[in-house]
Amino acid sequence: MKLARTTVTRLIETASSAQANAYAPYSRFHVGAAVLGADGRVFGGCNVENGSLGLTVCAERNAVAAAVVAGTRPVAVAIVTDRDYVGPCGACRQVLSEFDPGMPIVLVGSDGGRPRTTSLERLLPGAFRFEPPRRGTRT
Ligand code: THU
Repeated sequence: MKLARTTVTRLIETASSAQANAYAPYSRFHVGAAVLGADGRVFGGCNVENGSLGLTVCAERNAVAAAVVAGTRPVAVAIVTDRDYVGPCGACRQVLSEFDPGMPIVLVGSDGGRPRTTSLERLLPGAFRFEPPRRGTRT
């Protein structure tokens, strides 16, 4: 899927405002993400850290959850941080691939430079897909 330039702009704006709400007192690494829903709506997410560090939830997964709660499905994502062109972590790649293993991923430079669009296929080739066992097979 090719993203229109206006859609890329909407995604980056939403990801930037979500980044401003990041709760990251431990890492101080503020991440904002925005997911484009199949219905054209855009949903933001930020990282939400926890003193029990392993309970931290990434910005991307919070944006995915917001889209799903609102009744749509993710078809593209943008990520904004204070560093250049940071891609989603491995866990988030897997979560995104659940919805579309080839979805466009928009990465943003810290200096507001040109966004780069890559694809989940490139970032997570050969993603795991769960095929439920057929009925009647061994449990
Ligand atoms: N983080 C994200 O929000 N998304 C990623 O894809 C990578 C990491 C967050 C988690 C944690 O709050 C901080 O960045 C440092 O790992």
